[in-house]
Amino acid sequence: SSNPAFALQQPRKASYNEHENGEMEWEKLGFGPVSTDFMYSMKCCEDGNFVQGNLTRYGNIEFSPFAAVLNYGQGIIEGLKVNRKDDGRLLLFRPDQHALRMKMGAQRMCMPSPSIHQFIHAVKQTALANIRWNNSEWPYSQTTPRSSLKRGLRTKNAVRDGATYAPPSTPLNVPPPGKGSLYIRPLLIGSGPVLGVGPAPEFMFLTYASPVGNYFKQGKTPLSLYVEEEEVRAFSGGVGGVKSVSNYGPVLKALVRAKRLGFSDVLYVDSVNKKYLEEVSASNIFTLKGNVISTPPTSGTILPGITRKSIIEIALGLGFQVEERSISVHELTEADEVFCTGTAVGVAAVGSVTYRGTRFEFKVGETTVCQALGSTLVGIQTGLTEDKKEWIINI
Ligand code: COI
Repeated sequence: SSNPAFALQQPRKASYNEHENGEMEWEKLGFGPVSTDFMYSMKCCEDGNFVQGNLTRYGNIEFSPFAAVLNYGQGIIEGLKVNRKDDGRLLLFRPDQHALRMKMGAQRMCMPSPSIHQFIHAVKQTALANIRWNNSEWPYSQTTPRSSLKRGLRTKNAVRDGATYAPPSTPLNVPPPGKGSLYIRPLLIGSGPVLGVGPAPEFMFLTYASPVGNYFKQGKTPLSLYVEEEEVRAFSGGVGGVKSVSNYGPVLKALVRAKRLGFSDVLYVDSVNKKYLEEVSASNIFTLKGNVISTPPTSGTILPGITRKSIIEIALGLGFQVEERSISVHELTEADEVFCTGTAVGVAAVGSVTYRGTRFEFKVGETTVCQALGSTLVGIQTGLTEDKKEWIINI
């Protein structure tokens, strides 16, 4: 059949640093693909509905070389972080928002999408199954009767049951608070074959996980951005406003060039005037001038970031004025502070922006607004600060 088949793999060896006592060297964890043991997958029926999915051992996936996603880029990604609270509980940040955004993206890319419930269920299952490192037992740990495990996954106490997937001596995959997160990547793809341009006859939804630390190699050092005027990221009527897989390939050339020149990342400008800020490769951009925080509006070419939206709410709550409007590069150069937001990136201070050969510098450090906003957000995400807005789901 043309259905994608999963090729099962042997449990992999630890591919990132492990201390002698079995704990991970979390400090060295960056943002790379570290495979964990299980993934979740779900197929779409011809009626456009996704049927109940299931966990399988993590491994390569197989489908036709004619798959729509491979040939014509019919695919949407998401990204969410699971954090470990100091009492060991796992916290998921605004998964409903990610599910909704995938739904919007799927509509734009002419794909059916999982329901909000199915999306959140898949993300939770993926997090629970991968709490621990190297679960070599499959289907389930010998010490855990299958039936109790299944029951466990449906209860509110799923963490306790989920943790029995592997022996308790197995190191955790979810970094301790402050050291990183378990990043979950949901992927929705046109998996069925096409040749003439058209939507795929089959769709798949997958979620898989990787422990992550800092997105940037430089860690928390403020970013140096390069304003890119040649290559554009998105244009009116395109797909810049959704998390299409096709948004990322076209910016690699500019990104690699900027990195070779020593910059941390690229700041894209609008395709028409080449003058107004859009976003950075994997994050939204903000400026601060006095008491006013500004960020470009999400009117089609800019990704509506969940972190962006959360920071806007936090800033309003702290008494800042927040404006969503066009910001010219010239205006940015006169800002007091500049920062980026994203799920993967977090809230990252920008130390400098280079525009047409001139380097503009901004305030960074402990006493910045960026720092205050970032630590408020991280406080909520890691359970240190009360979650008044009900952004957190305990799993
Ligand atoms: C995220 O921030 O989660 C993203 O998906 C950005 C990504 C392209 C790394």
